[in-house]
Amino acid sequence: MSAPNSSFDPVEVTALHPDEVQRAVDEALAAISAATTLDELKQVRLAHAGDRSPLALANREIGALPPQARSEAGQRIGGARGRVRSALEERQATLSDERDARVLVEERVDVTEPWDVRPRGARHPLTTLQERIADLFIGMGYEVAEGPEVEAEWFNFDALNMPPAHPAREMTDTFFVESADSGVVLRTHTSPVQVRTMLTTSPPIYVICPGRTFRTDELDATHTPVFSQVEGLVVDRGITMAHLKGTLDHFASSMFGEGIGTRLRPSYFPFTEPSAELDLRCFVCRGASVGNPDRPCRTCSSEGWIEWGGCGMVNPKVLVACGIDPDEYSGFAFGMGIERTLMFRHGVEDMRDMVEGDVRFTAPFGLEV
Ligand code: PHE
Repeated sequence: MSAPNSSFDPVEVTALHPDEVQRAVDEALAAISAATTLDELKQVRLAHAGDRSPLALANREIGALPPQARSEAGQRIGGARGRVRSALEERQATLSDERDARVLVEERVDVTEPWDVRPRGARHPLTTLQERIADLFIGMGYEVAEGPEVEAEWFNFDALNMPPAHPAREMTDTFFVESADSGVVLRTHTSPVQVRTMLTTSPPIYVICPGRTFRTDELDATHTPVFSQVEGLVVDRGITMAHLKGTLDHFASSMFGEGIGTRLRPSYFPFTEPSAELDLRCFVCRGASVGNPDRPCRTCSSEGWIEWGGCGMVNPKVLVACGIDPDEYSGFAFGMGIERTLMFRHGVEDMRDMVEGDVRFTAPFGLEV
């Protein structure tokens, strides 16, 4: 920087010399027109119009000039900076117009194109219903237990007090893997998961076991060889049928609405004693159709109740087979078909719709059942 000097001629300060100023302007204008992107232009602005640009530095020299020289130098520098500024503005406008035009082309969306040529899938309502049931029991402190679909006969039958001569063990019901004497089956119910749980966990046990099960049924409106069950098992001290009934009533009303309870009818299962068939209060007529020909109900055939599943107190023999002392512990178990539950809950009339995998069936259920 030059020192103040009263006999100072501004043209002698190099940075303020008209040639020098012109050179700075020429360089700036050349750089501005050479910038092809907004980013490049930003760099050019810094270099030629920023605080440390030649013209800004020259501007600082003005203050050191004698007063009579300041005006002329100020005009020269001011004019030069003005030219650079307006060239920058002009280039900025051009480049952003170009950018906008390019973005419009690159990001163009043809709103007239069909958007759903390949329809998206949807979660199967059986899956979402299974999850909803599991969530309900998780809310009551249960855990979800899982087991293999290809199961040892011992878990599927023997441990559940089904001796080898039991009718359920005949080929007609059971899919055997390889041969009938392989000892390996596709599980016919989710009850083997109970056995596995009891063998690996000590009481108290509170589990819910949803899963796929298999039986040699022909596929028709009410049967499918691959279906799903959900099984509940509780083993703890002092468990009674009252606990079972209360749990089932809560399950029923949570699934089908306030006031929808259950009914137990004496029955037989090898793995529970006593055993019961489990009926659900008809959630359409709520029993009002019974003995009332004026108000027939298609859902329950005017019975007032709908068959839902099976249940009972875990047979002490099963507890023993699983290494649990029946004098100390008792338990209950229940099981029902998820397809059937879905059919009631959503008025699905044909089971085949559930297995065919047509997205037109699943989509209306959305993500949530
Ligand atoms: N496992 C039985 C079935 O598949 C249902 C059931 C489960 C019955 C638990 C009683 C207790 O039919």
